[in-house]
Amino acid sequence: MKHKLLVLCGLSAILIALAACSKDKGSDTPLYRNDTIEYDANRKILIAYFSWGGNTQHLAEEIADMTGGMLFRIETVNPNPSDYNECTVVARNELDNGIRPELKGSVDNLDDYDVMFVGCPVWWHTAPMAIWSFLETSDYDFSDKIIIPFCTYASTYREETLAKIVELTPASLHLRGFGATGRNTNGVENWLRTINIIR
Ligand SMILES: Cc1cc2nc3c(=O)[nH]c(=O)nc-3n(C[C@H](O)[C@H](O)[C@H](O)COP(=O)(O)O)c2cc1C
Repeated sequence: MKHKLLVLCGLSAILIALAACSKDKGSDTPLYRNDTIEYDANRKILIAYFSWGGNTQHLAEEIADMTGGMLFRIETVNPNPSDYNECTVVARNELDNGIRPELKGSVDNLDDYDVMFVGCPVWWHTAPMAIWSFLETSDYDFSDKIIIPFCTYASTYREETLAKIVELTPASLHLRGFGATGRNTNGVENWLRTINIIR
């Protein structure tokens, strides 16, 4: 009897451990909390994005078309090299050394918006440092905003990048984010409906 009980306990422990593992690995499991909102036709929407090669800009423009939101391009004073390999070296150095690149321009009427999409490519498993610069600046107060992260990527670290945008805006409300590979924007409309931004 005692032996059976021990075996049962052992099996339960293995099952619990397996369930926890499969949850961690599920690519659809967000690494961050998702809040929910009701649809409201009067929301004022800003779409702030950083894009090096145009993919994220393409996605940002789709979001703007579907929501009627305003676009704001996050740009660095010193542009990243146009050569891909050089760009990866600069990006890696910024990430490894926590360098926040200086940004060009600013959103001068942030208070007018209640929803802000924030988008970027995945760079070295996370968001580019320009996103740190943008979200950390004391020029903006995001605490009353609904933040919706989005990203484009080649194949990996979508969730980590969306989660980084959430981590950088701790006082905001967050809706489920979206990631697109390259310029394939299938699913954007469905996502915007699911999070009650459009009807
Ligand atoms: C510096 C750098 C690092 C990258 N790191 C990753 C990565 O970790 N994972 C990934 O899937 N794609 C990675 N990529 C590919 C980009 O995320 C992808 O091409 C993205 O769609 C580019 O967006 P953009 O055209 O708006 O710049 C990287 C690209 C660059 C330039």
